[in-house]
This record gives sequence, structure tokens and C-alpha cells, in this order.
Amino acid sequence: ALPEKKYRIAFSQCTGDDNWRRRMLADMKREMAFHPGIEFLYKDAKDNSRLQARQVRELMNEGIDLLMISPNEAQPLTGVVEDAFNKGIPVIVIDRTIASKLYTSFIGADNVEVGKMAGDYAANLLHGKGNIIEVIGRPGSTPAIGRQKGFQQSISQHPDININAEIYGNWLKDDAAAGLLKVKDKLMHADLVFAHNDVMALGTYQVCKKLGIENKVKIIGVDGQPGPGSGLDLISNHLINATMLYPTGGQEAIRTAFKILNGEPFSKENILQTLVIDSTNVHLMQLQANKIDEQQKDIEKQQALLEAQQAIYNSQTTLLNIAVTA
Ligand code: FRU
Repeated sequence: ALPEKKYRIAFSQCTGDDNWRRRMLADMKREMAFHPGIEFLYKDAKDNSRLQARQVRELMNEGIDLLMISPNEAQPLTGVVEDAFNKGIPVIVIDRTIASKLYTSFIGADNVEVGKMAGDYAANLLHGKGNIIEVIGRPGSTPAIGRQKGFQQSISQHPDININAEIYGNWLKDDAAAGLLKVKDKLMHADLVFAHNDVMALGTYQVCKKLGIENKVKIIGVDGQPGPGSGLDLISNHLINATMLYPTGGQEAIRTAFKILNGEPFSKENILQTLVIDSTNVHLMQLQANKIDEQQKDIEKQQALLEAQQAIYNSQTTLLNIAVTA
């Protein structure tokens, strides 16, 4: 095969500072290792939509071949994404989306589906009766809107289940904890909390523990990632009851990027699968994650060996050339 053209690919990430996003980046890098010539530009907007819009403009000025973006909030980033798209830069939107269809490809799970699954699971846990508090993600971000919609659709089918309070946790542990303390009286009478991500589910657990109600309140999160303090850990340590797997899409994004750049067929909408993780399958999920990590280490070892052999080969051919010309 011909060596691949050296592409400049940019990624504008809404925040880099949590385990799920670090995982997304790792998933991208694992896939990028198959395209050694790639130039990767990365910017972290630190939860700030205005900063993110500015960073996208900066990236566009760098002469990029393709833009990947996970927009912090939909509205404030729609304009700049449309501009990139209209300038002919292919745009892959990941996980959170914009308020327009002017992008090349979307990769992410169906958040209404995630919310519905969480609602059905909650109703089951409560045997159709009880009080719920919902801890919502950042209000202008599309996963928060979708998860809220799906969850409420599901719960509305159960007349004896009430959502007694909805608080904004903005995807952050401390905001979730502060919000819950503001509705402390309702929390004391809650049977279940649905937090829109595992970080906020952990914040919920910590508040419940402080109030001495951690054994009474059931907790459901979203994300289901491996790693210390992440969803799988929270379930196997019995801090939360369940989480809805929310795949990062990092690997699929890079695969799609190269399909687009190489002029191969690709789908505009790529919906990733979700599933319930609880104590019945958490061990399996952890084994699977460990396996992937081990395989990755093997790949890296093989790459190092190949590089070492290449270096030996190069020095030998140099010696050979010297011998031939001498
Ligand atoms: C990470 C995160 C995840 C959540 C996703 C939604 O920054 O908050 O926990 O599932 O973003 O976009």
C-alpha cells in the first residue's frame, strides 16, 4: 500500500478533566497508532462554551483537514461548527451535538434511550412505587436534555412513582452534591436518585453517606467506565446500584475520520449501543476492560520491537553501503 497522506486532524474537547473524557482520548490514540503519519491537534475547553468556540476558530486557522468536536453546549457552538462545515472542513460531532445538521458525521449513543433504560430499571428496582430525585447534567448540553426526556417518558408510565425534585449537577460531582443538599428534606424521603453520569452518582453517594441514608437510597448513574473511582468500580464496591453504559466513541471517531479523508463510504449518523450494568454483569465488564488494556500493552510492546528492528536494519544497510562504496 502507498504510505498514507499526512493529515492534520483536530479535536476540540469540551472538557478533558474527567475519567470518561480521558478514556475517549485514549480510545482515539489507540486507533491513531494505526496511522503513524497523522498530526493531531487537541484543545480542551474546560467546560467553557465561549472558550471552545474560540479554540475551534484557532484550529480552523491552522489549516486542518478534519475537525472532531464534542461541544460543551449545543447553542453556543452551532455557529462555529456550521462555519467549519460550510468552509469544506469535514466535521465529526462526538457524544454531545449541536442545534443543526450541518456536520459531516455524528458518533454517540442515543441519550433518550439511555434515559428510558435508566427509568425502566429504576421502576423495576422500586417495584413501581416510590420517590425519585433526578440529578441533571449541564442544561444546554444535548445528553442532559435527552436523558431527562427519556427518563421522564419511562417514569410517567408508573403512576405511583414521583420525580420529587430535579437539580442541576452540570456533570460535576461538587455541583451535584451542593444541589442535593439544597433539597435535603426531599432527599431524606427519596428512594432513588438518578444521576445523569457516574461522577454525579458518586457525589450523590457521598451526600447520602454524610446524611446516614446511603443504605436506603438507591443510586443509578450513566457512563460505566473502568478505572479507579469510575462507574464499574462504584458498582462492584456497592456504592451505586446500576449504570447505563455510555461508550466514548473515540475509536469510531478516528475510524470514521479516515473513511472521510480517504473518500470511502461512511454513515452520517452512528448510534453506539448502550446497556445496563449492575452487580449481575459488572465483573464481566471489568474482565473485558482489563483484556483490552492488556492487548493494548501487547500492541505497544510489538511496536517497540519493530522500531528496534528497524533501527538495527537501518544501521546495517548504512554499513553495507559504506562497504560497497569503499
Ligand atoms: C464527561 C461527561 C460524561 C457524560 C458525558 C455527556 O464529560 O460528563 O460523564 O456521560 O459527558 O456528554
